[in-house]
Amino acid sequence: MAGRLAGKVAIITGTGSGMGRVAALMFAREGARIVGCDVNPAAGAVADEVRAAGGDMVSLQPVDLSVAAGAEALVAFALKAFGGFDIVYNNAAMAYFAFVHEMDFETFARTQREEVDIVFHLCRAAWPHLVARGGGSIVTTASTAAKKGSLGQGMLAHSAAKAAVTAMTRQYAVEGGAHAIRANTISPGMIRSAQTEPLMLQPGWTERAIGRQVIKRIGEPEDVAATALFLASDESSFITGSDIAVDGGTMAN
Ligand SMILES: NC(=O)c1ccc[n+]([C@@H]2O[C@H](COP(=O)([O-])OP(=O)(O)OC[C@H]3O[C@@H](n4cnc5c(N)ncnc54)[C@H](O)[C@@H]3O)[C@@H](O)[C@H]2O)c1
Repeated sequence: MAGRLAGKVAIITGTGSGMGRVAALMFAREGARIVGCDVNPAAGAVADEVRAAGGDMVSLQPVDLSVAAGAEALVAFALKAFGGFDIVYNNAAMAYFAFVHEMDFETFARTQREEVDIVFHLCRAAWPHLVARGGGSIVTTASTAAKKGSLGQGMLAHSAAKAAVTAMTRQYAVEGGAHAIRANTISPGMIRSAQTEPLMLQPGWTERAIGRQVIKRIGEPEDVAATALFLASDESSFITGSDIAVDGGTMAN
């Protein structure tokens, strides 16, 4: 298949909904063979969608990637399906929000497990296979929350987690250089998804979010998936250890 990712195999986490689902469809359209996965047992429907559109995708669900065994099972699944992989897109994560005076340690620690450990476990399991492959691209979703506080939402745990994956990515990039492994993050702002749609139903929420942006619309999963596609592809072959904001200009404002 021709395309910007022709010949590549991409592991994408959290393909059951939101940005992960859109990325699976987009990457497959550009010629990648996709290894999807999700903790949600219904996520296999997305593989059917990709195949119906002419793409190639296998999917493992339910799998909990916040524990090592889940990440190892996913890598074994990818090796069995396609013999190796070139792209690891750490999209899946789950954040828990509470303001400082209400944030208990379990909520804080759970967010670290489901936003930081989730990246560590998959990178740890995937790394030797990327080295053996002769290189690859690791793309990890961070957030504007890594760089700014918020009065609107209790970001304490989420900010810490996304700052951690941004810092980890610089280390993956530095150590990966010798193996032709690139690593970059994407920092989305407010993007429409299962995690944000309930917020958007609150009166005034969307207006306040858009008010902080330069570009006056809600971000769509396609905005992030297109950036991930660029970072996954050889078009970004001189980019590593970077973070790309996909936030309608929020951080510039
Ligand atoms: N939506 C936003 O505004 C926004 C902003 C900044 C960053 N992000 C980040 O973007 C990424 C995608 O989020 P989304 O908004 O598309 O959310 P989403 O909830 O629609 O999709 C996330 C998917 O990951 C899966 N998942 C979560 N934890 C998992 C686990 N432990 N094991 C396996 N699968 C798991 C979920 O089941 C879900 O299908 C996340 O990393 C999120 O933190 C989102």
